[in-house]
Amino acid sequence: MAPLMSLLCLCLVGQVIGQDMPDEEYMAQIHACPKECRCPADFPRAVYCDNRGLKIIPNIPPHTWYLYLQNNLIEVLSADALRNATQLRWLNLNRNRINSKGVVDGVLSKMSHLAHLYMDENLLSTVPSHLPSSLEHLRLSRNRISRIPSRVFLGLNKLNLLDLQRNKLMDDDVTEVSLKGLKNLVQINLAKNQLSRMPLGLPPTTTQLFLDGNNIEKIPANYFKDLAKVAFLRLNHNKLGSTGVPKNVFNVSSMLDLQLSHNQLTEVPLISSGLEQLHLDHNNIKSVSGANVCPVAIDTVDDSVNESVPRLRYLRLDGNRIKPPIPRDVILCFRMLTSIVI
Ligand SMILES: *[C@@H]1O[C@H](CO)[C@@H](O)[C@H](O)[C@H]1NC(C)=O
Ligand SMILES: *[C@@H]1O[C@H](CO)[C@@H](O)[C@H](O)[C@H]1NC(C)=O
Ligand SMILES: *[C@@H]1O[C@H](CO)[C@@H](O)[C@H](O)[C@H]1NC(C)=O
Repeated sequence: MAPLMSLLCLCLVGQVIGQDMPDEEYMAQIHACPKECRCPADFPRAVYCDNRGLKIIPNIPPHTWYLYLQNNLIEVLSADALRNATQLRWLNLNRNRINSKGVVDGVLSKMSHLAHLYMDENLLSTVPSHLPSSLEHLRLSRNRISRIPSRVFLGLNKLNLLDLQRNKLMDDDVTEVSLKGLKNLVQINLAKNQLSRMPLGLPPTTTQLFLDGNNIEKIPANYFKDLAKVAFLRLNHNKLGSTGVPKNVFNVSSMLDLQLSHNQLTEVPLISSGLEQLHLDHNNIKSVSGANVCPVAIDTVDDSVNESVPRLRYLRLDGNRIKPPIPRDVILCFRMLTSIVI
């Protein structure tokens, strides 16, 4: 093990020194390091100003790519301090006191390389405007966001992760108009907001949709028709009853992981053969049988494991009103099941 470890370390050091940074930029960068921060000599593009009790952002050196400002008391994203920070790739502002007025117009749009912007646990009331089109990940969880300005995402063609969990968004805030422009969105997290229906206007690229802890009661029959890539759907802790779940709504061939724990379902919903994980614990389901849960006719499932065999590997049914044992036809249907909790 030891020789391997040292080899690994050598490689890492080599990589860091290899950051192609001309000597004079390197000197300028280290020289301009704010006294409140730490600028590691072997990783000169990173500036660490986290956990310092800072109320204002110090002047950021010009060649910074990675800027860590989390866990401070910052209220304003000052254009002055960030004037030279146009090379940023990564900006972490989690756990500060920035409200929407504190995001000065234009301060973010000048960061034309910014890929990751983290502003979890601040005091924002709207999604910030004038975001740079280079953005790939935007994290805004645990704020008090109750508004997504229309067209705020227009031009953000690279954004693939949008985290808005634990905010105050309502149905009319998440619409085709407000989400317009998100052409490459893969993951959207809207958990713990105040939604009472499924969000509208999600782009067809959406693969992971997280909606836990809202007040959703029903799902429109065609909801996933234009969301042909959805693979991970979380709807735990909502108010879904079986009457709010149309027969084929979850029979979506792209779906791999479906989480419906802590709802009010009285029946096991129909799933597709491709589903691998199904969470149905803590509902009101009274019974389960192969005839009503198997996505294919049970007599077509035989010992040869091929395409037609349902892929379900993990099934949770605890916290319902189902009494063991698990019916034999359920086991016969789901040949690949490795874990069932009842
Ligand atoms: C920005 O860079 C210029 C030129 O290097 C320097 O004179 C100025 O003080 C810098 N401003 C800030 C806010 O760091
Ligand atoms: C589920 O969907 C597939 C393909 O879309 C379809 O062939 C199948 O009949 C559906 N299952 C049920 C039980 O309706
Ligand atoms: C799977 O195997 C069964 C039984 O051997 C066969 O009838 C069926 O056509 C096979 N399906 C596929 C998609 O190969």
